[in-house]
Order: sequence, then C-alpha cells, then structure tokens
Amino acid sequence: MTVREMQEMILKLKKETNTAILTHSYQAREIIEIADFTGDSYKLSVDAANISADNILFCGVHFMAETAKMLSPEKHVYLANKGAGCPMAEQMDKEMIAQLKSAEPDRTVVAYINTTAALKTVCDVCVTSSSALKIVKALPAEKILFIPDCNLGGWVKKQIPEKDIKLLQGGCPTHAAISPKAAEKAKAEHPNALLLVHPECRPEVTALADYAGSTSGIMNFAKNSDAKEFIIGTENSIAEHLQYECPDKKFYPLSKDLVCHNMKLTTLPDVYSSLLGISGDPNGEAFEIIMDGELIASARKCIDEMLKYGG
Ligand code: 13P
Ligand code: SF4
Repeated sequence: MTVREMQEMILKLKKETNTAILTHSYQAREIIEIADFTGDSYKLSVDAANISADNILFCGVHFMAETAKMLSPEKHVYLANKGAGCPMAEQMDKEMIAQLKSAEPDRTVVAYINTTAALKTVCDVCVTSSSALKIVKALPAEKILFIPDCNLGGWVKKQIPEKDIKLLQGGCPTHAAISPKAAEKAKAEHPNALLLVHPECRPEVTALADYAGSTSGIMNFAKNSDAKEFIIGTENSIAEHLQYECPDKKFYPLSKDLVCHNMKLTTLPDVYSSLLGISGDPNGEAFEIIMDGELIASARKCIDEMLKYGG
C-alpha cells in the first residue's frame, strides 16, 4: 500500500467511525495531512473541549490524550501509539508536590500541561508554553511554584520579576540537550538567519535567540517575518512543516539531535490500525484512554483554570 492509499483508507474509516483526529505539530507530515485538528498543546486542548465526533484519536504523547479525555469525558479517546509518553510528564510525583504544597500553602502550584493526570490533582493551574506568560501574569497569586520545566519556568520568571517564582529541576530532555555551542555553530553557519527557539531550551540557548516562544509562536513568527532565513530551535518537524508552508524562505534545524523520539513513535500505519480497532475490525488495535471519573473531576480543575485564564 502506498502512503496515499493508506491516507485514503484512513479518511474513509475516520468518517465511518465518526472519529476526529488530533495531531500535535511535532507529528510527521503524512499524519498532519489526514488530521482534523493540528496545533500546539494549548490549541489542541481547546479543540478537544469543543469536538462533536464520538471518538477522538490522538497523535501525540500520552498526557495530551489524557488531557483530551478529561476535557471530553463522554467521548472515547484513543492514543495512536500506546508507547508514546513524554519523559518530562513522569519527572515529578504527586506525593512530592503535595508535600511542598503543605509546607508552603500560600504558594500557587503552576503545572506545565506536560504532567500526568495524577500530578495535576495537586496543582492549582496548568499552563502550556504559549499560555504560561499570560496566565502567570494574570494569576492573583504573588508566590508561585512552577513545575516541572525549570527552563520554561525560568523564562517566565525572567519576564515577570515582580512575582516570587520557585522552580524545581525538571525539563524536556530533547530541548534541554541543546547546548549554546550548538546554537553558536548554527548561527555561524547561517549568518543571515534569525534564531527562533522554544523556551524549553536552556537559558544560555534562549539568550542567543532572536525570538523565543511556543510551537505556534515560532511558526507564526517565521510566517509573518520579513526575514528569509531561520534557524529552528525546536523539534525538527517544525522546520520541515515551515519549509512546506513558506517555500520562498529557508529553514535550518538548530541541531540534527532536536528530535522527540516519543513524538516520532506514531506512524501512519498506527493511525490506520487504531481506526480499524475503533471500527471493531480484529485486524486493528485501538488503545483507549480509560480514566476514573473521580480522577478526571479532580485533575480537570487545573485545566479548566488554564482555559479560563488563557482563552
Ligand atoms: P507546545 O506544544 O506547547 O509548544 O510544547 C511543545 C512540546 O514539547 C510538546 O510536548
Ligand atoms: Fe516531552 Fe520534550 Fe517530547 Fe515535548 S518534546 S513530548 S516535552 S520529551
């Protein structure tokens, strides 16, 4: 079967099973082409809350499908590849954060959405990289514990010095692995290019950038800029997608190592197999997100807070 033929089968099955496909922008081109909704973590959360289809098939990582389930609990939500997790989401456990919270009850716990549902139950508000600045600014709280990404948290802290923001040592292994030396090398190789980075990168890398922002922030900046060349300091699929969208501009990945192997686990055959499984065909396999109603009710509060402040 060719890619095109498989995509056609997927589109047919999607209709027959009344399934909406949500894909994070880090997914491969051939998956984005068959999606109903594509975007960064914030946009996909808003989309998930407003979907009318019976089923949601998520192409991304586990916490994203879990978030979609919490926002649309009456729907069947599936993750296209059951092995796709985010290492950052597993870095901090609920008991540790609950302990810190009871030690300092006047500190509001702000959780990056890249956290498990269990951890979200002890947090006050979620943020994504595109909404973190806006939400932390808007919160009435002066004292904040920002978890788990200290790079994103540090980037927020620098821009909101009036608040007391405490950080813990966590982060994205993909973005945090990029060194300032790699950024300097890319800049030297492409002297006319602007450097655009994700705030999950180390502060020494962000300091070298012409722009720092979320996935959608980087994409919008590149599309709207008069500049013609860009070094992309986030997952390499973004450089590829931008190259398709802006063929008159040039996009260079900051490093060949900027690949999220978890995001890249999902393949077009996984999407096909999931839809077969949803349709009841024994040749397919669909991994459904099953969550206890109590867990949903408790973890969802901080996602609702995010949507309230960030919308
Ligand atoms: P955003 O989608 O919020 O830009 O985050 C990037 C990321 O690392 C997703 O896991
Ligand atoms: Fe997690 Fe980083 Fe991959 Fe995003 S890029 S899913 S934060 S490991």
